[in-house]
Amino acid sequence: NTRRRTGSRRIVVVGSGIAGLYAAALAAEESDGHQVTLVTKGALAQSNTWFAQGGITAVTGQGEAAGDSIDAHVADTLRAGAEMNDDAAVRLLCEAAGAEIDTLLRWGVPFDRKGTRLALGLEGAHSAARILHAGGDRTGAAIAEVLIRRVVSLAGAGRLELREHSFVTRLLETASRVTGVELFGAPDGEVRTQLPADVVVLATGGAGQLYEATTNPDTATGDGVALAWAAGAVLTDLEFIQFHPTLLDPAAANGTAFMISEAVRGEGALLVDSTGHRFMPDYHPDAELAPRDVVSRAICRQRLLLESRGEAPQVYLDATGISRAKGTDFLARRFPTIHTTVSALGLDWNAQPLPVVPASHYWMGGIRTDLAGRTSVPGLFAVGEAACTGVHGANRLASNSLLEGLVFARRAVRALAVGERTPVVEALPLELPEGTVPCTRADLQRLMSSAAGVARDGASLELAAKQLGEWAVEPTDQAGAEDANLLTTARLVVAAARARENSIGAHYRTDFENRPAGSGRLSFVNPRAGVPG
Ligand code: SIN
Repeated sequence: NTRRRTGSRRIVVVGSGIAGLYAAALAAEESDGHQVTLVTKGALAQSNTWFAQGGITAVTGQGEAAGDSIDAHVADTLRAGAEMNDDAAVRLLCEAAGAEIDTLLRWGVPFDRKGTRLALGLEGAHSAARILHAGGDRTGAAIAEVLIRRVVSLAGAGRLELREHSFVTRLLETASRVTGVELFGAPDGEVRTQLPADVVVLATGGAGQLYEATTNPDTATGDGVALAWAAGAVLTDLEFIQFHPTLLDPAAANGTAFMISEAVRGEGALLVDSTGHRFMPDYHPDAELAPRDVVSRAICRQRLLLESRGEAPQVYLDATGISRAKGTDFLARRFPTIHTTVSALGLDWNAQPLPVVPASHYWMGGIRTDLAGRTSVPGLFAVGEAACTGVHGANRLASNSLLEGLVFARRAVRALAVGERTPVVEALPLELPEGTVPCTRADLQRLMSSAAGVARDGASLELAAKQLGEWAVEPTDQAGAEDANLLTTARLVVAAARARENSIGAHYRTDFENRPAGSGRLSFVNPRAGVPG
């Protein structure tokens, strides 16, 4: 079939974070006259990418000249990922970084510079300063702005169709192949339409909203994972959810969730407890710059320790030393977004430590793909956080996720003209229960935070599974459909966390603390997919 191999195809990309925007732009620009539609449930700018502060990792020629290397980036990614990473995916990610940065520079992303050279930041578990940033601490927004301008201009030229405020309710399937999407045609969810496609690319991001404390916006509801599950795609590594160590404590922020970038620790900020003790050296030789899972776990332990001693169980990010060393205008210049936000809350981070809590941030697991974004279901691709190539292992290295979005979106676009089935992956059949008791997002978040957070144990997970099995959400409108997707993803995370009876990376079981880690990855498939009724 010549048309399939080389000809134009109808491609629907779902999601407008970095991976979706980049995939849509590349598919429209570089392909053989594909008919590309970019569908997103909100406005184009509503994505998790928009909130990415720290940056994007790349060992460029400049970094190599200063002694850094792609091999070192590979080694750091594997070390942070507890060596559970897919080696080929990691190598590919690190090797492709320089070329993707060149594309972003060509397209107009204003990465920060020191003189004429790119300014390079440091973050946890990196052995060298190699994080590019833009606008100081608004890297995701700066990249998204450029990509949005690009897709809007492609749409203006008739090379791409944009459908904002369109929520995908279902993947259409014919003879076990994905053949399009069904949409709520308007934000009020009144109209349902079908959009046929030869290939659907899910770039819908993660499910940070599973937890009470999260760095993710309200829209991070696991939609793509839930759609792929219903369509019978294999899902992998679902138990690995990363918690960012330093969300500004919502109690000190009028209840709003605001992340304080790891790049602040990269500049020298310290973690101290309510007694003023700098505790991270007690837990890891790399202290505040240990891998993110280690730091989040240490914060939780320190809080328990404080509680047991009758002290206030609060930890703080102390950036006052940076101010003293680099001047009182440094924080405002280097981190303008954070500075403006904390100042508006009446906090002076030049003078006082900021109260922080760990918060759900990134899902390492997701829809299993090969290195070109192909899922186990023909016609269905996945890229970005929704996908799981295995590149992040059990814990993602800081600032590798924007890069992942670019590298694997490009590879998917190259492959989707063909779109054949990915090699078969062994997966355990998993039946999810269907309950009847209504629940709210807040109920779900409370349960997941207490039973499947930074630390888990078998007994709490078992109770959580039972409760989740009893709950139900009616997907009558977009908000209901998002909560129903969260309920599905919660059941999946809890099932995977119960199945992995050891502790590794971001999956920490207090009942299996000392059991050898074991490296096998867990994959699940829905045996009811495609079964009518
Ligand atoms: C941050 O700026 O701390 C987040 C960076 C990341 O998640 O990679």
